[in-house]
Amino acid sequence: MNIGFLASHNGSNMQAIVDACKAKLLDGVPAAVVSNNADSRVLARAREEAIPSYHLSSRTHPEPEELDQAIADVMKMHAVDVVVLAGYAKKLGPKTIANYDGRILNIHPALLPKFAGKGMYGMGVHEAVIASGDVESGVSIHLVDAEYDTGRIVAQSRVIVKRTDTPQTLAKRVLEREHAFVPEVLQRIATGEIELPLQ
Ligand code: GRF
Repeated sequence: MNIGFLASHNGSNMQAIVDACKAKLLDGVPAAVVSNNADSRVLARAREEAIPSYHLSSRTHPEPEELDQAIADVMKMHAVDVVVLAGYAKKLGPKTIANYDGRILNIHPALLPKFAGKGMYGMGVHEAVIASGDVESGVSIHLVDAEYDTGRIVAQSRVIVKRTDTPQTLAKRVLEREHAFVPEVLQRIATGEIELPLQ
């Protein structure tokens, strides 16, 4: 299973997936990394791992259609089977979504359908979870459509919210869970236990 990544910032989830492939816990090949951010840590990580990497953004492609086409071309060129949005701060274009319909996964650091939509990214998610008084949060892996956080849920993992948690301590616990859970779910996809597109 060739895995393509779209990521904007740190890329710790990309790294966890790459490490799982190297440890043979995941039957996958990290095939390409695309970032909209030329100076991102995720691109540096990709270079360190010798994974083909690309900066594609409105700076390289001012026309949204051209950017969408360029992203779709990279994924096709590297025979990507599944696209993982690993902290990708941009919406996808129709071409990429159509080419990979039902095979684009996003990682959301809370239990969807709660804590989705506007402002629900980064620390904002964990602030909202703590403000809600919920006693559990977690990780959702879901299919990507043209909107944010609205595609079908593929898998979820629960994380306890402690009474003493701050958004920062909860964020750390959820991110650690992501690093274990995302490769696990990808392996279930690689073995066919989870079949994409979902029926
Ligand atoms: C993660 O919290 C993920 O849930 C969200 O963006 C963050 C990415 O972190 N979509 P990293 O770049 O993988 O470290």
